[in-house]
Amino acid sequence: MRISYNSKSFRFFIIFTACLCIYFAIQKKKTNEDKVILNISSSFEIRTNKYSTILGPKLDKFPNEDGVKKLFQLWKSEHGRVYNDLDEMTRKFAIFVTNLKYITKTNAKRDSRRGPLLGLTNFADWSNKEFRETYLHNIDMSKIKDTAKIVNDDVHDLPCSNPPSSLDWRSNGAVTDVKDQGTCNSCWAFTAVGAIEGIVAIKKGKLENFSEQELVDCDSESRGCEMGWVSEAFKWTIGNNGIALGSDYVYKAEKEDCKASQIRNSPISSIHAYNQVERSENGMLCAVAKQPIGMCLYAIPEDFQHYHSDEIYEGANCPVDSLETNHCMLIVGYDSKSGEDYWIVKNSYGTGWGKDGYMYIKRNTGKKYGVCAINAWAYNPIKND
Ligand SMILES: *[C@@H]1O[C@H](CO)[C@@H](O)[C@H](O)[C@H]1NC(C)=O
Ligand SMILES: *[C@@H]1O[C@H](CO)[C@@H](O)[C@H](O)[C@H]1NC(C)=O
Repeated sequence: MRISYNSKSFRFFIIFTACLCIYFAIQKKKTNEDKVILNISSSFEIRTNKYSTILGPKLDKFPNEDGVKKLFQLWKSEHGRVYNDLDEMTRKFAIFVTNLKYITKTNAKRDSRRGPLLGLTNFADWSNKEFRETYLHNIDMSKIKDTAKIVNDDVHDLPCSNPPSSLDWRSNGAVTDVKDQGTCNSCWAFTAVGAIEGIVAIKKGKLENFSEQELVDCDSESRGCEMGWVSEAFKWTIGNNGIALGSDYVYKAEKEDCKASQIRNSPISSIHAYNQVERSENGMLCAVAKQPIGMCLYAIPEDFQHYHSDEIYEGANCPVDSLETNHCMLIVGYDSKSGEDYWIVKNSYGTGWGKDGYMYIKRNTGKKYGVCAINAWAYNPIKND
C-alpha cells in the first residue's frame, strides 16, 4: 500500500499524534507541580520580607511553587504555628494549598467591591470540614421560644429618638480584648459574656473579663462545647447573681464540672433581666446604641473560615429569609464607609481572624432578617444598678 503524504488519513495521523503529545506533556507538568508543591522539608525556612503581611497581597492569583511555600512559611510564623513532625506539616501544608486555591479562586471572581475578600486566617491549615464540625452547629432557637421573650417588660420600648450616626463601644471602654474559644463550640458563652461585660462596664464604669468557662460548665440548658443559647446563659447568670472573673474561673475549652459554688462572683457582675431585640434594623440600632448586644446568625462555613479583611461582609450565600443559626457573636458598634452601613462585630476566634478578630457586617440591607439573619436572634442583658 502506498501512503501519500497528502492523504487525509496521514494528515489525521499527524494531528492525532500531536494532540496526544500535548496531552501527555500537560499531564506530566501537572503531576510535577503537585509533587514539587508538596515537597517541603523540615529545614525549609525562607525569609519572607517580600510580603510585609498576609493581608497585604489581595490573594487573587494562585502563586507559583515558591510563592506558595513562602506564604506558608510566613503564615506559620505570623500565627506561631509549630507542627510535631514532618508528617503533620506535610498533611497541613496540603490542606493549606487546598484552602489557598479556594481563597484565590473566590477572590478572583469578585467583581469590584462585591463578594467576599478572603485571606489566610488562623484556620488556613484546617479543612473546611474540621472548621464546620468544630464551630458551626445548627441550633434550634425555637427550643427557647417561650422563655426568650421579653423578661422585663418595662424596657421593651427603649426610647431611641436620636441614635448617633456611628458608635463604637470599644472606644467607650465597654469591650474586652478579643478572646479565643479554642476547639470548643462555646461561641454562645463568649457572646453572652461579652454582652455582660459591656453592660457592667457601662453601669459600673469598670471593665472586667468574665468567665466563659463558668457558663460552659454550669449552664445545663446549653451544651457546653457543643453549642448553646445566649439567652440561657443570661438566665443562668441572673439565677447565679452574677458571674466569676475570667482570671478566677479560667477558660479550658472543655466542659468540666461546675465550680460555681467554689469560685466567687465578681461583686459588680449581676444582671437582672434580658430582652430579645426587636427584629428590625431600627430595633437593632436602638439596642446597640445602648450597649453591646449578643446575637446568633447563620455563618457560611467557607466565608467564616477565611474571612480576613476589613471589607464589609454581605453574606451573599446565606439562605434567604431564613431563621437558621449556627454561630453567635457580639455587636459592639456600627458605622458607615463609602455610603455602606455596617455593624462592628466581635468574634471569639482570636485576633488572627477577620480584622484583628472583628468582622464588619452590612446593615440596612432591606433583607427580612438582615445579613444571614443577624437581626433575628439578638439579645441584650439588663442591669438595674
Ligand atoms: C524534595 O526536596 C529535597 C530537598 O530540597 C530534594 O533533595 C528532593 O529531590 C526533592 N524531591 C522531589 C520529588 O522533588
Ligand atoms: C482581660 O484578659 C486579658 C487576657 O488575660 C488581658 O490582657 C486584659 O487586660 C484583660 N482585660 C481586662 C479589662 O481586665
